[in-house]
Amino acid sequence: MKQMLNVALPKGRLGEKVYSMFEKAGYPCPAIKEAGRKLIFENKSCAVRYFWVKPSDVAIYVERGAADIGVAGKDILLEYEPDIYELLDLNTGKCKMAVAAKKDFRDDNGRTLRVATKFSNIAAGYYMSKGRDIDIIHLNGSIEIAPILGLSDVIVDIVETGTTLKENDLKIIETIVPISARFIANKSSYKFKYNAIDSLVKNLARQAEDNCD
Ligand code: PRP
Repeated sequence: MKQMLNVALPKGRLGEKVYSMFEKAGYPCPAIKEAGRKLIFENKSCAVRYFWVKPSDVAIYVERGAADIGVAGKDILLEYEPDIYELLDLNTGKCKMAVAAKKDFRDDNGRTLRVATKFSNIAAGYYMSKGRDIDIIHLNGSIEIAPILGLSDVIVDIVETGTTLKENDLKIIETIVPISARFIANKSSYKFKYNAIDSLVKNLARQAEDNCD
């Protein structure tokens, strides 16, 4: 009998894209497409169970073994450094982590830089590597407002299309790192469900190559 694979998918547009990749890889679960509020879907004949979780929580489910595998953004992996295996770049959900500020911002190295962000760990590491003193202001969303209201000098945040920055009169000052969706696995699941996970990774890798085109 096939071993059941428990998969944590990020709720939202990225999750739907990623689900189609899993479907093509031989793990369909048609019920997942029905409209509704259900969060767990199972297809016994393919030995797969999907759960929709908050994108920033996928790595927690995988790290603790509640899910064997999952898909998380590189931003989340860099920020929380979960103890998991990162097996594949899916080449989708592409964006970047960047520093942005008001258009008239001029940096003054003599002053501590006030940085508003949801990604405190990434911001701290980035400025430490540059030897720059910063004061981190941790926010949970709508980060772009911080420099406009004078709460911070700059922000460290995800930029995808650039629309949010543009519509709030902000500009990118520096790019920190490119981001994309990663296939991750729980360390012991990778050992005990190796055959299923490995063949899935190989199939997804072929699809990820196509995503590059
Ligand atoms: C993310 C990010 C930016 C926006 C960037 O926000 O924090 O605000 O998307 O996308 P764009 O470059 O295509 O405009 P999200 O939608 O996750 O909301 P939140 O950070 O305000 O919670």
